[in-house]
Amino acid sequence: MKTYTQNLLSCLAIILTSCLLLSACAEKQLEELIEQQEETETGTTEEPTKPEEPVAALPGLPDDVAGYTQWLKLNAEPIPPVPGGDPHNGTKNVYVNKTLEDIAPNGEQQFPYPDGSIVIKEAYRPDKDFVGLIAIMRKKAGVDPDHNDWEFIEYVRNASDAEFRVIARDGVCWGCHAQVEDIDYVFTELD
Ligand code: HEC
Repeated sequence: MKTYTQNLLSCLAIILTSCLLLSACAEKQLEELIEQQEETETGTTEEPTKPEEPVAALPGLPDDVAGYTQWLKLNAEPIPPVPGGDPHNGTKNVYVNKTLEDIAPNGEQQFPYPDGSIVIKEAYRPDKDFVGLIAIMRKKAGVDPDHNDWEFIEYVRNASDAEFRVIARDGVCWGCHAQVEDIDYVFTELD
């Protein structure tokens, strides 16, 4: 009887140990499986792209034109000063906050510009190596139907570390820009 109990006990002990071992083993396998899966997952995930450094707007200019030099440039070559008097005196570049696909879907520029367009012109004054003038046209639906819903504003500064200040807007600008009403008031076309 005693041996029977002993046998039974050792038998149970063996079963219990095996169970423990088995479950430990199963657990280990599961862990490995999860690890493997994680590895493949991270392996297929693309390298996280670095967020682009936010570019601050030039001092005194509104935030919606920050980083404008990275926008689409309409002119291929800098626009030289107009001889005999230039409304935006200097060497100029004109940018728009739209893609080539937005404004020239078939390779040819379409008019009018879409709502939300911002056209910005920077000018380096003659013999100066900093931007001294910024002229902006913003297309806002309903704001001025008589002038194709463009809002005009111009800023200037006299030193590279100075803040831009507003010198003129809207009424002053319409006379000239209305000459190119057929191409939505924007003189510079996509080169
Ligand atoms: C005396 C005429 C004249 C006046 C006034 C004028 N502009 Fe212009 N503007 C032009 C011409 C011409 C261009 C074409 C680029 C160049 O030669 O500078 C131009 C270009 C621009 C551009 C770049 C887009 C484009 O049309 O080529 C902006 C933006 C602009 N002007 C804004 C203004 C604002 C804002 C005002 C008023 C504060 C203003 N302009 C007043 C003649 C004028």
